[in-house]
Amino acid sequence: MTPTVRPRRLRATPAMRGLAAETRVHPRDLILPMFVREGIDAPLPIGSMPGVVQHTLDSLRGAVAEAAAAGIGGVMLFGIPAVRDARGSAADDPAGILNVATAAVRAEAGDALVVQTDLCLDEFTDHGHCGVLTADAAAVDNDATLDRYRAMAVAQAEAGSELLGLSGMMDGQVAAVREALDDAGHPDTALLAYSAKYASAFYGPFREAVDSQLTGDRKGYQMDPANRREGLREAELDVIEGADIVMVKPAMSYLDVLADVSAVSPVPVWAYQVSGEAAMIEAAAQNGWIDRRRAIEESVLGIKRAGADAILSYFATELAGWLR
Ligand code: PBG
Repeated sequence: MTPTVRPRRLRATPAMRGLAAETRVHPRDLILPMFVREGIDAPLPIGSMPGVVQHTLDSLRGAVAEAAAAGIGGVMLFGIPAVRDARGSAADDPAGILNVATAAVRAEAGDALVVQTDLCLDEFTDHGHCGVLTADAAAVDNDATLDRYRAMAVAQAEAGSELLGLSGMMDGQVAAVREALDDAGHPDTALLAYSAKYASAFYGPFREAVDSQLTGDRKGYQMDPANRREGLREAELDVIEGADIVMVKPAMSYLDVLADVSAVSPVPVWAYQVSGEAAMIEAAAQNGWIDRRRAIEESVLGIKRAGADAILSYFATELAGWLR
């Protein structure tokens, strides 16, 4: 039998493949997560994240300028304070590292890209949890944590953050932060809700990146990897509470959840290719087992194809350079 239907016709040349491509990644779709550490004189490499560093304020500014020149859509800032305590006091201190860095980056970046900040307490607490603990220290106290997030949100908005990344997985965090911002005169500060954020092994290298003090796990507040339907529920709640963008995280092991959310979401849907996902690619490439560039391009394309409108990726600046 001779086939009359031949899908290979559209694969014959690079030009034909380019025209037939259903999905394209644009530099503007990419957001670079960045770490800034208080009290260091030179950038510090992160062993489990080749090419990623803990920045000084100066090196952060330089890397943001480079990201802007590559044309990416935004940066997401994480701060590592010199001093931590039980309530994460440095998080809402205007002189705290994340807030100081935000102001510096905003001055550097102008309107070239969107300056975003992680709104979570884990980098700031001495116990490493994403919120404050209950009196017996047995759990994270949801509602007491919301008060901390309110203060943190106002401090970040005042420092110049344009989009707050709510990554703590506390119930009611989007509504609480929205109300606090509106009451403080920041109605235009936007909210990115990490809606379907799973308790994942793939955050491993990140814990090194922020010198995490965590001893237990986050299963009492982050989602169970077994749950797909619940991802939709979380996204729906966040939209009702006022999220401007919802997110699925990690990305590569949760493409089903991403596709589900993107099929019904009335707001943009983003995904986070997390530290462990990047580390797997780097490690395999270092061993000569996969082609690094092709693996990066394919992984990000796959996340976009599954339904992400934009992607947080440690490869953002480098990938944007290849795409141009
Ligand atoms: C919480 C936060 C985490 C990550 C982003 N925001 C850590 C966690 O939930 O344990 C992980 C990102 C990554 O692994 O790249 N502030």
